[in-house]
Amino acid sequence: MPTNPAPLTARRNGPLAGRVRVPGDKSISIRALILGALTVGETPISGMLEGEDVLNTAKALEALGARIERTDEGMWRINGVGVGGFAEPAGALYFGNSGTGCRLVLGAVAGCPITATFDGDASLRSRPMRRVLDPLERIGARTLASENGRLPLTLAGAREPMPIVFKPPVPSAQLKSATLLAGLAAPGETVVIEAEPTRDHTEKMLAHFGAEIRVATANGTGRRITLTGQPELAPRPIMVPADPSSAAFPLIAALLVPGSEVILKGVMMNPLRTGLLTTLGEMGAAIERLDERNEGGEDVADLRVRAGALRGVEIPASRAPSMIDEYPVLAVAAAFADGTTVMRGLKELRVKESDRLAATAALLRANGVAADIDGDDLIVHGQSRPPGGGVVTTHMDHRIAMAAMVLGLASEKPVQIDDGTFIATSFPGFVELMQSLGAELS
Ligand code: S3P
Repeated sequence: MPTNPAPLTARRNGPLAGRVRVPGDKSISIRALILGALTVGETPISGMLEGEDVLNTAKALEALGARIERTDEGMWRINGVGVGGFAEPAGALYFGNSGTGCRLVLGAVAGCPITATFDGDASLRSRPMRRVLDPLERIGARTLASENGRLPLTLAGAREPMPIVFKPPVPSAQLKSATLLAGLAAPGETVVIEAEPTRDHTEKMLAHFGAEIRVATANGTGRRITLTGQPELAPRPIMVPADPSSAAFPLIAALLVPGSEVILKGVMMNPLRTGLLTTLGEMGAAIERLDERNEGGEDVADLRVRAGALRGVEIPASRAPSMIDEYPVLAVAAAFADGTTVMRGLKELRVKESDRLAATAALLRANGVAADIDGDDLIVHGQSRPPGGGVVTTHMDHRIAMAAMVLGLASEKPVQIDDGTFIATSFPGFVELMQSLGAELS
């Protein structure tokens, strides 16, 4: 929903210090709502992210017939309708900025005999949907979308969904998940074969709710996921761990602001989400995993981060799926590193909430950091203290906004962003949390 732009400025201050917990994981929160809505009975959720993307997804699921109640901070209850049980919504479903909410609900609706129109904000309206409509049409859904396959679009779910074997053309957990959610309604086995593994939260949560799902390796590093359709999903409690993609912002701020020491509590350590930690380790960062444990089926740890020198590295394209949302803030870390950092294979960044490859390079250049785009690679030339002093255009992209603020906390001069409102899509309370660590953000 358009609001007035709210500029924000970050400037250098003393060291960052303290123990904080960033909000719940966005991917898991959205999946918990959707699977709760596809389950008969009540699914309790704790630690839920209360960001705009999640709230918009919840409203869409309510319009499809699920009953959703917030009982306390982060505590939610969903009463679902069962696989194939969605009711036809009275109006268009609005997903705001949320690609995950929109694409996964497209999948969930594709197996139901109803018609629904999907829409979003200007950022989401610019993102590709054809890639997700293709497998859903093979399952039996019919779609009415403009030539360029963008929102708004209308989907009529399959009356008799067919199981398919689908090989996503790009590594995308959203595409995989939409196909599996549609496959829930089909008789027999729906198979997704991914060439490179992407985050596996949908598979894990489907198994948690009692679906029969098998995962095998395929073609070396890839995965073959086989879901048996028409399961009886049973409600199970969900505990949402802290989002590693949100933790990345205070984590990198603590690495860059001299003298800082910060503890980030309960951060999810799912190996398909920890590419950033691997990379920062190679760059020489001091990050310790404390109290490693399992909570609600996911590995979590408290992370102790101390400021220190970083060195430039080369990051292989094969690591991109495990840190796809972390490149803007990693590029900020690279701006402070000794030497050059080369990030390979970032084509998918062009179709995120903004063209993140271009927006990340522009954010650095506006602040006196040399950055080049070479094909699908981003090359950042580090220096000991970037000048800053720029005004960054955020293009309705929460991660560009937060990455720019992290840069401003450690650069010579303050950094401004044109609009901080989109930060609330994934990280409500970002400004207050950073301020509680001693950051100067206003
Ligand atoms: C997500 C998958 C990723 C990621 C997005 C969340 C998910 O997108 O960028 O923020 O929850 O499945 P793709 O899988 O399309 O790359």
